[in-house]
Amino acid sequence: MSPRENLILGIESSCDETAAAVVAGGQRIVSSIVASQVEIHRKYGGVVPELASREHLRRIVPVVREALERAGIALPDLDAIAVTRGPGLIGALLVGVTYGKVLALALGKPLIAVNHLEGHVHAVLLEAHAAGRRPELPAVCLIVSGGHTILYHVQSAATNGAERFSYARIGGTRDDAAGEAYDKAARMLALGYPGGPIIDQLASHGNPQAIRFGEPKMRGNPYDFSFSGIKTAVFYHLRRHPELQSEIEARREALARGERSAESMRALSSSATLDLVASFQRAIVADLVNRTLAAAEQHATRTILVSGGVAANRELRATFEAEAKQCGLAVYFPSRALSTDNAAMIAAAGYPRFLAGEHEDATLNAEANLPLT
Ligand code: KG4
Ligand code: ZN
Repeated sequence: MSPRENLILGIESSCDETAAAVVAGGQRIVSSIVASQVEIHRKYGGVVPELASREHLRRIVPVVREALERAGIALPDLDAIAVTRGPGLIGALLVGVTYGKVLALALGKPLIAVNHLEGHVHAVLLEAHAAGRRPELPAVCLIVSGGHTILYHVQSAATNGAERFSYARIGGTRDDAAGEAYDKAARMLALGYPGGPIIDQLASHGNPQAIRFGEPKMRGNPYDFSFSGIKTAVFYHLRRHPELQSEIEARREALARGERSAESMRALSSSATLDLVASFQRAIVADLVNRTLAAAEQHATRTILVSGGVAANRELRATFEAEAKQCGLAVYFPSRALSTDNAAMIAAAGYPRFLAGEHEDATLNAEANLPLT
């Protein structure tokens, strides 16, 4: 490790993953630990905020300890502690912020506050740097997860050592986030939780042209999204097709027995269900890709960044890559592991702020609705 590589501990607890990571020089992941709470929230079909906070409390100390052990360092070796300040679930955020504050105070190390959404942008950059690529700015960035579906115009801002960015919001969802739509559709179809990964796998076995979901009609900002309509459309489709109920019941029973693999779900799904799933995914992917490309064209950017849990989706990645190529745009994604919430992206996003001397004190507070500016 070169002496100029600062070691930053990142801490993330905004939703349902308790995560800690050590990143060197703002770019190299030395260790990254993510403790998922999916098993706890599964039976509710979504994140239960009170349970999330309680679980973060239980996991945060061992997760940080493991991140340090894997990195082969001790607390005094750190140069700074970067923690997610918001946006997210307030009780969940408070666990990370409070722990980060206490750790920084006890060690006499700088404390850096990070916006979770800026973390997702840095997840793309971490991956690009690891591959020796450097995304050209300005860019249009789509952050698409269970909690967010939002488009930003990202520009290079004044630098002070490491590159800094400024963000202007282009549009966002007016109702559900895309990941939320996946989770709710999977719940109606009894495909398990979270819905994204299972629908991703089943969709490739169905006909995406089988069912036409109308494009969401947006008045006003053409870069806004709306996914509640497609969720309702799935609901009415199931009402019109009562013959699908028996397989839904069979899948519900399989899930209750702990059989949740894609193979089990596929074996219990008729071609009508696979077609529904494929058509649902095609509609969401087309909407995300079309609005993002239109935003890139309007802002005359040649780069697209895509991040967040739904960025792990295979059809979304393939469609973005194919369409961006046609338009002569470069598109960047994080690896699948860095797409979902993690703390490496928080440490990386904290690095330029650390270099700029943007340190927080004990008055730092979590902010559930923190905007990205
Ligand atoms: O970024 P993330 O871990 O947490 C939030 O900030 O929400 O994203 C989780 C969301 C869930 O809604 C999950 O269903 C979705 O991302 N997701 C996917 C895939 N993997 C995760 N959606 C579509 N396709 C996937 N492969
Ligand atoms: Zn996230």
